[in-house]
Amino acid sequence: MIKVMEPRRLKLAVLASGRGSNFVALWEAIQKKELDAEICLLISDKKEAPALSKAADAGITALFLDPRSYPKREDYEAEVVNQLKAQEIDIVVLAGYMRLVGRVMLDAYKLKIVNIHPALLPSFAGLNAQQQALDYGVKVSGCTVHFVDEGMDTGPIIIQTAVDVYPDDNADILAERILVEEHKTYCKALQLLAEGRIYIKDRTVHIK
Ligand code: GRF
Repeated sequence: MIKVMEPRRLKLAVLASGRGSNFVALWEAIQKKELDAEICLLISDKKEAPALSKAADAGITALFLDPRSYPKREDYEAEVVNQLKAQEIDIVVLAGYMRLVGRVMLDAYKLKIVNIHPALLPSFAGLNAQQQALDYGVKVSGCTVHFVDEGMDTGPIIIQTAVDVYPDDNADILAERILVEEHKTYCKALQLLAEGRIYIKDRTVHIK
């Protein structure tokens, strides 16, 4: 059994490609002292991502790094890692980051990169998870916080929250209901890390 980290006030970096509501939820939880962390940096691969301006408004360094300016994914990730190391980041928080993470980042931050997915993994990995859940006809979906590995939404699961699915839901309504739980679930998972309560054996996460 491996202890993922000792208790500490987490230095977080958020990676986001879009809206940034999970970033805002984490930031608010920190202000309310529900999460013992500080967000040192937000990086986006999309110039127009609202997450960038939300971070800047909160006084957090907001960095647009354009993947197209680098010859290979490895070069892009090396620059991301440089930025993370410069801020001595403990945990990299993917929040609507629309890129697969590769070896350069995974090797630099082993078991230190987390993601949130809007479904109960391993069901409905990948894009449009809420629509996938509706198309399948499940009665319960939800969200999952997991460690990131080289696969698409395949890493070890930290915590999950279930959300009911109703017959007249559409993808937007279901996404909105799940999002409310995402914000709470992400804070909870990160606080467990801050408290040094997360252990892992094989691919099973244990919470002490
Ligand atoms: C969330 O639904 C998250 O689960 C998924 O992407 C969305 C990001 O939303 N990975 P936001 O940018 O945090 O508002």
